[in-house]
Amino acid sequence: MILASIILAAGQGTRMRSKLPKVIHPIVGRPMVWHAIKAVQGLTDLPPILVVGYRADIVKSAVGDGVSYAIQDEQLGTGHAVASAKSALEGKADTILVTFADMPLLRQESIAELIALHRRSDSPVTMTSFRGDEAQGFGRVIRNADGHVTAIVEEAVATEEQLAVREYNLSAYCFDADWLWQALTRIPISPKGEYYLTDVVALAVEDGYSVNCLLLQDPEEAIGPNDRVQLAAAEKVMRQRINEKWMLSGVTIIDPERTYIEAEVEIGQDTVIYPNTHLRGTTMIGEDCEIGPDTTVVDTKVGNQVVLIQSLLEQALVEDRVTMGPFCHLRIGAHLAEGVHLGNFGEVKDSYLGPNTKMGHFSYIGNATIGANVNIGAGTITCNFDGEKKNPTEIGDDVFIGSDTMLVAPVKIGDRAITGAGAVVTHDVPPDTLVLGVPAKEIRKQEKSD
Ligand code: UD1
Ligand code: CA
Repeated sequence: MILASIILAAGQGTRMRSKLPKVIHPIVGRPMVWHAIKAVQGLTDLPPILVVGYRADIVKSAVGDGVSYAIQDEQLGTGHAVASAKSALEGKADTILVTFADMPLLRQESIAELIALHRRSDSPVTMTSFRGDEAQGFGRVIRNADGHVTAIVEEAVATEEQLAVREYNLSAYCFDADWLWQALTRIPISPKGEYYLTDVVALAVEDGYSVNCLLLQDPEEAIGPNDRVQLAAAEKVMRQRINEKWMLSGVTIIDPERTYIEAEVEIGQDTVIYPNTHLRGTTMIGEDCEIGPDTTVVDTKVGNQVVLIQSLLEQALVEDRVTMGPFCHLRIGAHLAEGVHLGNFGEVKDSYLGPNTKMGHFSYIGNATIGANVNIGAGTITCNFDGEKKNPTEIGDDVFIGSDTMLVAPVKIGDRAITGAGAVVTHDVPPDTLVLGVPAKEIRKQEKSD
């Protein structure tokens, strides 16, 4: 048994009123289609075939490798879209799973159940449905007096009586490949000129089969955002799922309604997350941290026992026991070693701060390499930009940078050196040396204190 999967992503999604195809709009930081691909990953024997059409180039560049593509040149309906993948799969797979790229909340467990049900069944089609309150945009599942499914009827062609049915077509299917390929050629054209995939259910019944239907208990799995109101609804459901996953694995989230954790983030045990925290991209947070409130961490690795308060971190690296905030900004390439402390209003870009270095108040550090146990006084600035290029600053270990020191780069400060308050350092400072003034002058060599 070779199982292949087709994911439909060729539609435009006009109701999004967007320049971009619907399926690349993000949910918890990843395109809608990413979630649909992830849901089938590991279930199938071949890489999924993504059917693309409307702005295929944009969809392909958002998704990348890892899937195969089939092109549907004209969007003539879901049946026609599945047929576009036929040449890629005919003769290569005997079972075909079909899902939609615009159903990001469909769980992998549900798809696995669908496949298992199909394997137990004699019918060439196995479908999925859900029951719920009045809902719009879904095909209705029509059953006969014995309760067997006889057809799926689309809203556009349904009678009043059919519209009143409260069992809806969810749109995940498993097919016997040979039967599917020939059934697709028998789908009638709809009044609007489309070929509905849903019509194959009635065709299977005509062929004398009894179609099995997996009834899903959680209607949220069916949310297929068609406009941005539904997009926000899907985002909310996905956010809750992610937050619950982390809480159940040992992370305290003070207010899950106000905590925003993207799909691929990792968080260690006994970390506490305060409200209005956004953990994004490939961020990894260690154990026993306190994150937030009002903190955004993007593509950053954070060690254990770290405290981040009201800060923004982007593409940085933060080692164990760092404390930071409020109002700090780590930009690309900031690397804080173990035990570093950043107090209020600190900005660090493309710089390394060594173990236990302290920067308590109002400082900018850019393009700098700073040693261990350095005290960076209030208001210290690395003047790294000369109007043309960025210049480096190097500071040794155990240095004392006085308040309001301007380090005019390129400049080097030796181990254990001291700069006085308000010094403007334009020349390298040797180790164990005190400099003062504007521009800073060497005052004396320090006595070694060991
Ligand atoms: C479809 C089902 C409906 C079901 C609902 C669940 C059909 C005819 N109807 O309706 O029974 O209740 O999903 O969400 O299947 N697509 C293509 N090519 C096309 C048309 C669509 O690739 O020519 C893709 C879209 O990109 C989208 C998916 O198929 O990912 C579904 O298309 P959409 O137009 O949203 O179908 P619905 O009207 O929601
Ligand atoms: Ca849809």
